[in-house]
Amino acid sequence: MARVLLIAAGGLAREVISSIRQTGDHDVVGLLDDDTSLHGRLVGGVRVLGGPELAAGIDAGLLVCAGRGSARAAVVDRLEALGIGAARYATHVHGSVGLGAGSHVGGGTILLAGCVATSDVLVGRHCVLMPRVTLTHDDRLGDFVTMAAGVALGGRVTVGPGAYLGMNASVRQDLAIGTGAVLGMGSVLLQDLPAGEVWAGNPARMLARHPGGKARGDAPARRTVNEMYPEQQGANP
Ligand SMILES: CC(C)(COP(=O)(O)OP(=O)(O)OC[C@H]1O[C@@H](n2cnc3c(N)ncnc32)[C@H](O)[C@@H]1OP(=O)(O)O)[C@@H](O)C(=O)NCCC(=O)NCCS
Repeated sequence: MARVLLIAAGGLAREVISSIRQTGDHDVVGLLDDDTSLHGRLVGGVRVLGGPELAAGIDAGLLVCAGRGSARAAVVDRLEALGIGAARYATHVHGSVGLGAGSHVGGGTILLAGCVATSDVLVGRHCVLMPRVTLTHDDRLGDFVTMAAGVALGGRVTVGPGAYLGMNASVRQDLAIGTGAVLGMGSVLLQDLPAGEVWAGNPARMLARHPGGKARGDAPARRTVNEMYPEQQGANP
C-alpha cells in the first residue's frame, strides 16, 4: 500500500486519517507539524514525527492537512524550497466518492466521504472538499480551494485559487468565484463573486464588515483557472 505522511496535525488530519482507514488506499506512516509540543505524541493514533522539513528524508507521499488554503500554500512553498515538488504529493479520495467520467483530481487534493463530481469536473491541486460536496458537469476548481460540508455547485461553475465556500453554500450554474473569495455558510450565490471578497446570505451579498473585499488575505498567488485548464473556455477569476 502507498505510504503517506500528513502535514499539519489538526482536526483535518484526524479526519483524513479516519477517511484513509475507511478507504484503505494509503498507509499513514506519520504526521509532521511545526508545533514542537506535539512531537512524539499520537494524533488520531498516528505519531507526530517532527517538523515538516523531515518530509525531505522520508520515503512517502505527502498530504498537507491545514484547513485554510493559504496555510496549505505556505507549507507547499516551504517544501518546494527544500526541493520537494509536485510529484511527491499523494491524493486522497474517500471510497464513497462518485467521480464521474472525464473528471480529474489534482495532486495533494483531499475528497472526504460522500462527495460527488458528476461528469467532466476538474479539481486543482491541494484542494480540500469536506463531506457531501456536490460538483456538477464542467465545474473547474483552482488550486488550494476549500469547500466545507454540503457545498453544491451548479454546472460550469469556476472557482478561483484559494477560494473558501462555507457549509451548505449553493452556487447557481455558470457563475465564477474569484481568487481567494469567501462565501459564507448557507449562502445562495446568484451572481459572480469577485476575487478576495467575503459574501454571505440568500441572496449572497458582500458583508458590510468586509468593504471592498481583500479582508482575509487568503489568496495565494497561483495560476488562474484558465491557465490550469487552457483547453476549456470560461471566466477567468
Ligand atoms: C461568512 C463568514 C466567513 C463571515 O465571518 P465574519 O467575518 O467573522 O463575520 P461575522 O460573524 O462577524 O458576521 C458579520 C455579519 O455577517 C452576517 N453573517 C455572517 N455569516 C453569515 C452567513 N453565513 N450568512 C448570512 N449572514 C452571515 C452576520 O450576521 C453579521 O451581520 P451584522 O453585521 O448584520 O451583524 C462566516 O460567518 C462563515 O459563514 N464561515 C463559514 C463557516 C463554515 O462553513 N465552517 C465550516 C468549518 S469546517
